[in-house]
Amino acid sequence: MDMTTSLVDHTFRKDVRRCFENRTYAIPARWLYDRRGSELFEEITELPEYYPTRTETKLLRDNGAAFAASTGTGRAVIEFGSGSSVKTPNLLKAIDPAAYVPIDISGEFLEHSASLLQEEFPELPIYPVEADFMNRVALPEAMADMPKLGFFPGSTIGNMIARTSVDLLRFMRETLGEGAQLLIGFDRIKDVQTLIDAYDDAAGVTAQFSLNLLHRINRELAADIPVDRFRHKAVWNDLYARIEIYLEAQDDVQFSIDGHSHAMAGGQKIHIENSHKYGLRDARLMLRAGGWTPLREWSDELDYFTLMLVEAHPLKHAP
Ligand code: AVI
Repeated sequence: MDMTTSLVDHTFRKDVRRCFENRTYAIPARWLYDRRGSELFEEITELPEYYPTRTETKLLRDNGAAFAASTGTGRAVIEFGSGSSVKTPNLLKAIDPAAYVPIDISGEFLEHSASLLQEEFPELPIYPVEADFMNRVALPEAMADMPKLGFFPGSTIGNMIARTSVDLLRFMRETLGEGAQLLIGFDRIKDVQTLIDAYDDAAGVTAQFSLNLLHRINRELAADIPVDRFRHKAVWNDLYARIEIYLEAQDDVQFSIDGHSHAMAGGQKIHIENSHKYGLRDARLMLRAGGWTPLREWSDELDYFTLMLVEAHPLKHAP
């Protein structure tokens, strides 16, 4: 077992124990993405109800000339949490970069998607970096003098609470440096039924994605949670402008994890994910709090999703 695997195991165990032993009944959303969870998420992105991926991909495809006009060509593109890099070719084709740096915590995913991209862009220098982008990341030396464009699509920022989002934006600024630009996707606030449907689809794929977390606990932590007695629940929290995802016990349940016994009463819920939605002014304020100055924005005709281009200007003192 390598160091990365054992560290992941240790942190997963710690987070799950905190949920049930300290009775926080909350588990960080990052644990949704084991191999099965990542496959299910890919399925989610193709569901008719899940509009974000299609809408953002179309924005990337349709606005290539405008991106190139705003960012210029010859930048190094640094993608945060590149995963399978499916949206990346649209951007790379548009702005003809000098280099591409995918950053991901999963080395396995990273090598695979980097080699696929290399086939599509044989001339492009690609420097994969295996790192946790929730901290400052040391970029390859070759990037030092290149103008940089960060890329953070998918409204992944929506899965973080506001304080963590601002921390992340500041780390990105440190990683990329003053003068860098960042192209970032935000899922917009819209009518509640559209949002609920996107997170509780008719085919039940999102439910499987959520319930896989309990299967994962059973698989990896010697547990016997009766998964079929829990149900996926998506709720809109208007005060926080976010979809909250819960796993709700359908009746009284007992189970053990790692040799410790636990009980949950029917109706009790485990909070497993937040997906924040933004007004334009919310997003701009958050970006400015993270040290980024808004430059340009692209939205679809329904205002479901927005790509924002921002720049790391020298920090000014308030007047
Ligand atoms: C990865 N992330 C932006 C997705 C979202 O929309 O918040 C995760 C997801 N969870 C359930 N469906 C999609």
